[in-house]
Amino acid sequence: MIKFVYQNKPLGTGDAVYKTKNLIKDKYFLMLLPDDLIIRKNCSKSMISIFKKHKCSVMASMKVEKKTVKRWGIYSKEVNLDKKNFYIKDVIEKPSIESAPSNNAVIGRYILPRKIFDILKYQKKGKGGEIHITDAIRKLINLNYKFIGHNFEGKYLDCGTMHGYIKSSLEISKV
Ligand code: G1P
Repeated sequence: MIKFVYQNKPLGTGDAVYKTKNLIKDKYFLMLLPDDLIIRKNCSKSMISIFKKHKCSVMASMKVEKKTVKRWGIYSKEVNLDKKNFYIKDVIEKPSIESAPSNNAVIGRYILPRKIFDILKYQKKGKGGEIHITDAIRKLINLNYKFIGHNFEGKYLDCGTMHGYIKSSLEISKV
Protein backbone atom coordinates (compact mmCIF):
# COMPACT_ATOMS: atom_id res chain seq x y z
CA MET A 1 0.00 0.00 0.00
CA ILE A 2 1.31 3.45 -0.85
CA LYS A 3 0.24 6.50 1.14
CA PHE A 4 1.04 10.02 -0.04
CA VAL A 5 1.61 13.16 1.98
CA TYR A 6 1.84 16.61 0.40
CA GLN A 7 3.95 19.66 1.04
CA ASN A 8 1.90 22.73 0.16
CA LYS A 9 5.11 24.77 0.09
CA PRO A 10 8.57 23.44 -0.89
CA LEU A 11 10.14 24.13 2.51
CA GLY A 12 12.86 21.46 2.30
CA THR A 13 13.51 17.76 2.88
CA GLY A 14 13.14 18.07 6.66
CA ASP A 15 9.67 19.55 6.26
CA ALA A 16 8.67 16.83 3.77
CA VAL A 17 9.80 14.07 6.13
CA TYR A 18 8.02 15.72 9.06
CA LYS A 19 4.74 15.42 7.13
CA THR A 20 5.01 11.60 7.44
CA LYS A 21 5.17 11.71 11.26
CA ASN A 22 1.85 9.98 11.90
CA LEU A 23 2.50 7.26 9.33
CA ILE A 24 5.80 6.00 10.73
CA LYS A 25 5.18 3.42 13.44
CA ASP A 26 8.53 1.64 13.74
CA LYS A 27 11.50 2.83 15.77
CA TYR A 28 13.57 3.25 12.58
CA PHE A 29 12.53 3.92 8.97
CA LEU A 30 14.16 3.96 5.52
CA MET A 31 14.07 7.16 3.50
CA LEU A 32 15.03 7.42 -0.20
CA LEU A 33 15.50 10.59 -2.25
CA PRO A 34 14.09 9.76 -5.68
CA ASP A 35 16.57 11.87 -7.66
CA ASP A 36 19.50 9.78 -6.39
CA LEU A 37 19.46 6.62 -8.49
CA ILE A 38 21.71 3.69 -7.62
CA ILE A 39 21.77 0.76 -10.03
CA ARG A 40 23.44 -2.67 -10.24
CA LYS A 41 23.44 -3.32 -6.48
CA ASN A 42 20.61 -2.72 -4.01
CA CYS A 43 21.99 -0.06 -1.69
CA SER A 44 18.93 -0.02 0.60
CA LYS A 45 19.26 -3.78 1.14
CA SER A 46 22.94 -3.47 2.10
CA MET A 47 22.09 -0.63 4.48
CA ILE A 48 19.34 -2.69 6.13
CA SER A 49 21.90 -5.49 6.78
CA ILE A 50 24.26 -2.97 8.40
CA PHE A 51 21.38 -1.60 10.48
CA LYS A 52 20.45 -5.09 11.67
CA LYS A 53 24.03 -5.76 12.71
CA HIS A 54 24.80 -2.45 14.42
CA LYS A 55 21.30 -1.31 15.47
CA CYS A 56 21.90 2.33 14.55
CA SER A 57 21.26 4.81 11.74
CA VAL A 58 22.91 4.31 8.36
CA MET A 59 23.36 6.79 5.49
CA ALA A 60 24.75 6.26 2.01
CA SER A 61 28.06 7.92 1.16
CA MET A 62 30.08 8.54 -1.98
CA LYS A 63 33.27 10.46 -2.75
CA VAL A 64 32.60 13.50 -4.92
CA GLU A 65 34.90 16.00 -6.63
CA LYS A 66 36.05 18.58 -4.10
CA LYS A 67 34.87 21.44 -6.32
CA THR A 68 31.25 20.15 -6.09
CA VAL A 69 30.98 19.88 -2.26
CA LYS A 70 28.55 22.80 -2.08
CA ARG A 71 25.92 20.65 -3.82
CA TRP A 72 25.84 18.01 -1.08
CA GLY A 73 25.66 17.17 2.59
CA ILE A 74 29.31 16.45 3.54
CA TYR A 75 30.51 14.04 6.23
CA SER A 76 33.23 14.36 8.76
CA LYS A 77 34.42 10.85 9.73
CA GLU A 78 34.79 9.64 13.30
CA VAL A 79 36.48 6.29 12.64
CA ASN A 80 36.41 3.54 9.99
CA LEU A 81 34.34 0.49 10.91
CA ASP A 82 35.62 -1.55 7.96
CA LYS A 83 36.51 -0.94 4.30
CA LYS A 84 33.03 0.25 3.32
CA ASN A 85 31.62 1.72 6.51
CA PHE A 86 32.53 4.47 8.95
CA TYR A 87 31.09 6.17 12.01
CA ILE A 88 29.97 9.72 11.27
CA LYS A 89 31.31 12.49 13.47
CA ASP A 90 29.37 15.32 11.85
CA VAL A 91 27.54 16.23 8.67
CA ILE A 92 27.27 19.69 7.10
CA GLU A 93 24.73 20.70 4.47
CA LYS A 94 26.24 22.24 1.34
CA PRO A 95 29.49 23.65 2.78
CA SER A 96 31.87 25.91 0.87
CA ILE A 97 35.03 24.27 -0.55
CA GLU A 98 37.06 25.98 2.21
CA SER A 99 34.87 24.77 5.09
CA ALA A 100 34.10 21.23 3.81
CA PRO A 101 35.54 18.64 6.24
CA SER A 102 35.96 16.04 3.43
CA ASN A 103 34.68 15.10 -0.01
CA ASN A 104 32.50 12.24 1.33
CA ALA A 105 28.98 13.23 0.30
CA VAL A 106 25.57 12.21 1.59
CA ILE A 107 23.60 10.26 -1.01
CA GLY A 108 19.84 9.99 -0.61
CA ARG A 109 19.43 6.72 1.31
CA TYR A 110 18.90 7.06 5.04
CA ILE A 111 17.87 4.76 7.89
CA LEU A 112 16.67 7.18 10.56
CA PRO A 113 15.22 6.88 14.06
CA ARG A 114 11.64 8.02 14.71
CA LYS A 115 13.18 10.35 17.30
CA ILE A 116 14.05 12.66 14.37
CA PHE A 117 10.42 13.84 14.31
CA ASP A 118 10.89 15.43 17.77
CA ILE A 119 13.82 17.39 16.33
CA LEU A 120 12.14 18.27 13.03
CA LYS A 121 9.20 19.76 14.90
CA TYR A 122 11.44 22.65 15.98
CA GLN A 123 13.98 22.58 13.12
CA LYS A 124 14.71 26.09 11.83
CA LYS A 125 15.46 26.94 8.21
CA GLY A 126 19.12 26.49 7.23
CA LYS A 127 21.13 26.84 3.99
CA GLY A 128 19.09 28.39 1.18
CA GLY A 129 16.14 29.00 3.53
CA GLU A 130 15.19 25.29 3.59
CA ILE A 131 14.48 22.97 6.52
CA HIS A 132 17.19 20.34 6.03
CA ILE A 133 17.06 16.75 7.22
CA THR A 134 20.88 17.04 7.51
CA ASP A 135 20.55 19.71 10.23
CA ALA A 136 18.21 17.45 12.24
CA ILE A 137 20.63 14.51 11.80
CA ARG A 138 23.42 16.69 13.12
CA LYS A 139 21.41 17.34 16.29
CA LEU A 140 20.82 13.60 16.74
CA ILE A 141 24.58 13.00 16.46
CA ASN A 142 25.07 15.62 19.17
CA LEU A 143 22.56 13.73 21.31
CA ASN A 144 24.84 10.69 20.91
CA TYR A 145 22.78 8.81 18.34
CA LYS A 146 25.17 6.64 16.31
CA PHE A 147 25.26 7.08 12.53
CA ILE A 148 27.16 4.89 10.07
CA GLY A 149 28.20 6.15 6.62
CA HIS A 150 28.04 3.38 4.00
CA ASN A 151 30.17 3.58 0.84
CA PHE A 152 27.80 1.72 -1.44
CA GLU A 153 28.89 -0.57 -4.28
CA GLY A 154 26.25 0.18 -6.94
CA LYS A 155 26.57 2.73 -9.71
CA TYR A 156 25.30 6.21 -8.86
CA LEU A 157 23.29 8.09 -11.47
CA ASP A 158 23.13 11.79 -10.75
CA CYS A 159 19.80 13.42 -11.63
CA GLY A 160 20.57 16.67 -9.82
CA THR A 161 21.96 18.54 -12.85
CA MET A 162 20.52 18.75 -16.37
CA HIS A 163 23.59 17.04 -17.83
CA GLY A 164 23.45 14.29 -15.17
CA TYR A 165 19.71 13.82 -15.69
CA ILE A 166 20.08 13.30 -19.46
CA LYS A 167 23.06 10.96 -18.97
CA SER A 168 21.09 8.99 -16.36
CA SER A 169 18.08 8.66 -18.69
CA LEU A 170 20.35 7.17 -21.39
CA GLU A 171 21.89 4.76 -18.87
CA ILE A 172 18.46 3.67 -17.57
CA SER A 173 17.21 3.11 -21.13
CA LYS A 174 19.88 0.37 -21.45
CA VAL A 175 18.81 -1.48 -18.26
C1 G1P B 1 19.81 16.54 -0.61
C2 G1P B 1 20.43 16.54 0.77
C3 G1P B 1 21.96 16.51 0.68
C4 G1P B 1 22.39 15.31 -0.14
C5 G1P B 1 21.70 15.33 -1.51
C6 G1P B 1 22.00 14.05 -2.26
O1 G1P B 1 20.15 17.75 -1.24
O2 G1P B 1 19.98 17.67 1.47
O3 G1P B 1 22.52 16.45 1.96
O4 G1P B 1 23.79 15.30 -0.29
O5 G1P B 1 20.28 15.43 -1.38
O6 G1P B 1 21.45 14.10 -3.54
P1 G1P B 1 19.27 18.33 -2.48
O7 G1P B 1 19.50 17.39 -3.63
O8 G1P B 1 17.85 18.33 -2.03
O9 G1P B 1 19.81 19.70 -2.74
